[in-house]
Amino acid sequence: MNDASKPTLILGGTGKTGRRLAERLTAQGLPVRIGSRSAAPAFDWQDKASWAPALDGVGAVYISYYPDLAVPGAAEAVGAFAELAVQRDVTRLVLLSGRGETEAQRAEEMLKASGADWTILRCAWFSQNFSEGFLVESLLEGEVALPVGNVGEPFVDADDIAEAAFVVLTEPGHVGQLYELTGPRLMSFADAVAEIGRAAGRSIRYIRISHAEFTAAVVTQQLPAEFVWLINELFTEVLDGRNESLTDGVQRVLGRAPKDFSAYATETAASGIWSN
Ligand SMILES: NC(=O)c1ccc[n+]([C@@H]2O[C@H](COP(=O)([O-])OP(=O)(O)OC[C@H]3O[C@@H](n4cnc5c(N)ncnc54)[C@H](OP(=O)(O)O)[C@@H]3O)[C@@H](O)[C@H]2O)c1
Repeated sequence: MNDASKPTLILGGTGKTGRRLAERLTAQGLPVRIGSRSAAPAFDWQDKASWAPALDGVGAVYISYYPDLAVPGAAEAVGAFAELAVQRDVTRLVLLSGRGETEAQRAEEMLKASGADWTILRCAWFSQNFSEGFLVESLLEGEVALPVGNVGEPFVDADDIAEAAFVVLTEPGHVGQLYELTGPRLMSFADAVAEIGRAAGRSIRYIRISHAEFTAAVVTQQLPAEFVWLINELFTEVLDGRNESLTDGVQRVLGRAPKDFSAYATETAASGIWSN
């Protein structure tokens, strides 16, 4: 638990998980400071000089890195940020991490080595990648083509991640704890796309392609080279079967089962995001 009168700094506070955490804290009357390039003061992972002003007077930090902990230099940045926070007496740090990712696990070790009162939320793939991430456009076009086959992934809902972050930040007993957060069911990407199609009342095809075909396809969409690298890295490293298991992390933190992908698909389809 931290001093409730001081704001919680939420890095990536307008992103998929940070925005939901900010809403939950604000709804309870708890002060929040958004940490992002568009916030005031601005926080930029690429500009170390922006880190100390963002930490000024805060009681705790939710650390979500951007764009991904798999990116070279991310672990060092998280480690340096955690050290600076501890030096400035902001010791309560919660890290959003990724399951089965070597670099994310290195970031976790650097967080622990900083001397912080840490909690780690090590997450599966977010369901919201299909609605607030890079897959939205292909879903709208009616065809998702990815370099991943029949591997099972326990997609986790960003609402559950934010709820878990809220609980570990506002209730005692979570310092020094690592929670692996997964959804309740292993699904392939083809299964997920089929569920979204059913929920949206549309026919959406899933096609498995090779890494070379995927790279060629994203290059023609004129996406930045770093993005192409990152997506290939994640599809190669994380989706090789290593994460084909469920965990009880959501149950341990929230005392209830995780939200199922079908609930996510139904709710999200109702927002109209997958309708054209
Ligand atoms: N997606 C997944 O399936 C998954 C799974 C496991 C773990 N993760 C981890 O989750 C983290 C991402 O979390 P998320 O999906 O909740 O966030 P997100 O939606 O990717 O983040 C967007 C946020 O980051 C801010 N941002 C962008 N560039 C920034 C910069 N240079 N410096 C500071 N802030 C910046 C944006 O605000 P501005 O534009 O205003 O700066 C916005 O608030 C990554 O570390 C990733 O490794 C993701």
